[in-house]
Amino acid sequence: MTRPSHALIDLAALKANYRLADNLSKQGSASAQTLAVVKANAYGHGAAAVAAALEPLAPVLAVACCDEAVALREAGIVKPLLLLEGILSDDEIALCAACDFWPMISDIGQVDAILAARLDRPLTAWIKVDTGMHRLGIQPGELAAQYQRLRDSGKAIGIVAATHLASADELDNPFTTTQIARLDTVARPLELPLSIANSPALLAWSTARAEWNRPGFMLYGNSPFDQPHAVADRLQPVMTFSSQVMALRRLASGETVGYGETWRAPRPSLIATIPVGYGDGYPRTAANGTPVLVNGQRGSLAGRVSMELITVDVTDCGPVRVGDTVELWGRGLAVNEVARCAATSPYELPTRMPARLRRLYRE
Ligand SMILES: Cc1ncc(COP(=O)(O)O)c(C=O)c1O
Repeated sequence: MTRPSHALIDLAALKANYRLADNLSKQGSASAQTLAVVKANAYGHGAAAVAAALEPLAPVLAVACCDEAVALREAGIVKPLLLLEGILSDDEIALCAACDFWPMISDIGQVDAILAARLDRPLTAWIKVDTGMHRLGIQPGELAAQYQRLRDSGKAIGIVAATHLASADELDNPFTTTQIARLDTVARPLELPLSIANSPALLAWSTARAEWNRPGFMLYGNSPFDQPHAVADRLQPVMTFSSQVMALRRLASGETVGYGETWRAPRPSLIATIPVGYGDGYPRTAANGTPVLVNGQRGSLAGRVSMELITVDVTDCGPVRVGDTVELWGRGLAVNEVARCAATSPYELPTRMPARLRRLYRE
């Protein structure tokens, strides 16, 4: 018998979320374009299936690096692929030109390497400007010179000035406005198209919407904010992580459950054992009390998460039997709530789900 734990991926919800993102882009300008970020195995949802579903809608898909881009070409994806992390070695430049991969150029050495490369055809390249994130990107004051070098070489076309925002999920943090102004000041005089917005910026910062927008997380249907937000709350969760009750036992008051005896029954309790654990992507840091839906009723995690098993207090969940349906997160239980209970980000939970967890796809 197959292990019942799996992630059901709703491709119709994915497409609806993309359309919502694209509508927001076009509120900035009717000609704005929305690429779809499918890096890190599409945030754990399965890059090949997600890219195939979004390819008819999105003009460009974005991955982290050449390896991810090559894997998508091997899966049959033909649209241009933006490399958000850029190139990691100079020999990737010719590959980018040949395969329509669009690297984000993030330092002057990479501009030098493009100018020195022998290319059969020009490469589409974006320039990443470091406006305050301080991970990657050229300094704002270097943009004009590096843009002119690339343009004059004839080796790079379709140049876009891009930046990445540090705190767009904090709705009252003025740093977003500072970063946008830093890019605007250096890129607008060059009449370059801009790309600024990730998901929280596209949803909440209209001044960040530009010629190209780069949503990732919101496509998978969850809010990037830790407070209610009228538009983000209309997104539809794409992944539902499910399992079934495997065993049930009654415990007397005072009995403990699991490794380290971290949960002690405060009353006579009914405990359900579920065949899912941190080896399947359920976070080991989830605290006692983390909600788990059993037959749609909220039970609560009781005891430490093991590699293959969790234990759930279902005393208040009504009648529960072996084989009953369990939801770890998804349509009925926001991944954001589980992430809070596990002291992590909702970006991390689906992204780190291992290959062994079955993904099932539904149109
Ligand atoms: C450069 C860049 N652009 C866009 C995104 C998408 O961000 P989000 O998932 O918040 O929409 C990321 C994600 O990390 C990124 O690194």
